[in-house]
Amino acid sequence: MKSASNIPQGDGDVITIMLVDDIPETRENIKKLLAFEPDFKVVGSFGNGREAVTMAKEMRPDIIIMDINMPDMDGIQATSEITKAVPTAAVVMMSVQNDPDYLRKAMLAGARNFLTKPIDTDELYNTIRTVYARNKPIAEQYRILEDGHALDMRRVAHLNVGEKRGGHIIVVYSPQGGAGTTTIATNLASGLMKKGIKVLLVDADTQFGDVGVFLKLQAQSTLADLVSQVDDVDVEFFDNSLATHESGLKVLLGPSRPEYADDVEANPAALASILDKVSHQYDFIVVDTSSHLSEMVIALMDLAAKIVLVATPTLSGVKNAKFVLELFDKLNYSANKTMFILNRTEDERARQRLTIPSEIIEKHLKHPIQGKIPADERTVMSALNRGVPVIASQRERNRSPIREMIELADKIFFSLVQQDDKDMEMAAAPKKKSGFLRLGRASR
Ligand SMILES: Nc1ncnc2c1ncn2[C@@H]1O[C@H](COP(=O)(O)OP(=O)(O)OP(=O)(O)O)[C@@H](O)[C@H]1O
Ligand SMILES: [Mg+2]
Repeated sequence: MKSASNIPQGDGDVITIMLVDDIPETRENIKKLLAFEPDFKVVGSFGNGREAVTMAKEMRPDIIIMDINMPDMDGIQATSEITKAVPTAAVVMMSVQNDPDYLRKAMLAGARNFLTKPIDTDELYNTIRTVYARNKPIAEQYRILEDGHALDMRRVAHLNVGEKRGGHIIVVYSPQGGAGTTTIATNLASGLMKKGIKVLLVDADTQFGDVGVFLKLQAQSTLADLVSQVDDVDVEFFDNSLATHESGLKVLLGPSRPEYADDVEANPAALASILDKVSHQYDFIVVDTSSHLSEMVIALMDLAAKIVLVATPTLSGVKNAKFVLELFDKLNYSANKTMFILNRTEDERARQRLTIPSEIIEKHLKHPIQGKIPADERTVMSALNRGVPVIASQRERNRSPIREMIELADKIFFSLVQQDDKDMEMAAAPKKKSGFLRLGRASR
């Protein structure tokens, strides 16, 4: 045990503490011990894990002292749920057993430290203060980033370590024209933007790119200029080619005229190689594409950490999505690289036509639907007219389809930050052959 002098004492903070144990006397004893110290404040005391999860969300204590063995929901399960839902709270596990297996399970669930019963007073005080001091910067970062919806700070803590950013490339694609790719790409980019996070949106619909129209943006240069001078592109050149939306989002616009598309696509690997070069200037790069599955799009998909595959719940939407998923399989993309999203669900007009129920779609595609974005002409059109992403309307965060778009961005945010280390390794690995070359060997 460390001596008290080594323990950070905080900055005069009062540490809020929640106690969870099914034995009332244990809770009372700990409460009495904590009452002697002016920097501790017990804000709640509960007898089972389930209640602890609910109350932790409400009370948001700094520290939760949690028993392992409890009826209904045990401490391990409760810790796992709390660390996801309330990342500002640090859990200290408590048990009579000093069993390494318990310890391992507790740590895996997200516990920060461990106390053995019967509780030693000094150890209790020191553990609380140490855990609080260690968790404080993470909790503060979380509070800054938190903008009304749950973030998992254990993962956010990985961000912005050093100069190199995550550089996660997310390609949004639909084999169906008009399925909502640009709407989703624009809102995804906007939803990924949180304090301290740098996001780039790339319009790789080389012929009829709409991002400039959606966001009312113009730029001196476009991706056509970059691709034509691919060998000279460096970070500064790239930066100077970007437009900046009023929200701060950086945007690389598509060619200014449709006839430039051929020039861009003539060098299908160019855009991917440019994005690869600048990727670590950004945390996330969202790429909007056209429905034409060109070699350029495949090169971008090869490079991507995630592909958001968009379809409407219609026969042609599902048929084409199936084809694309099969193609991804042949390209050896891992199943979790693709995130399948249905757009324009619950559409009154579409309902009168034939829409396919989710269960049937999932069964047919053998892939889960990982997001459903309801149709709402008024919200989407009003955002379009104002040149802002749909989700820019902060007051209506709980309204569909704003809520679903924010949820999609959060889902992708966390799944990518979690994969951070793995992605870094992959980025450092030797380049693979282009998708079409690899496909040539696969059956058609
Ligand atoms: N969830 C939605 N609710 C209502 N309207 C939507 C929704 N998603 C997209 N739209 C509208 O559908 C139209 C097509 O959307 P969008 O341009 O995003 O599709 P796209 O797949 O990028 O099309 P393209 O193939 O032309 O690039 C737009 O007018 C857009 O405002
Ligand atoms: Mg589009």
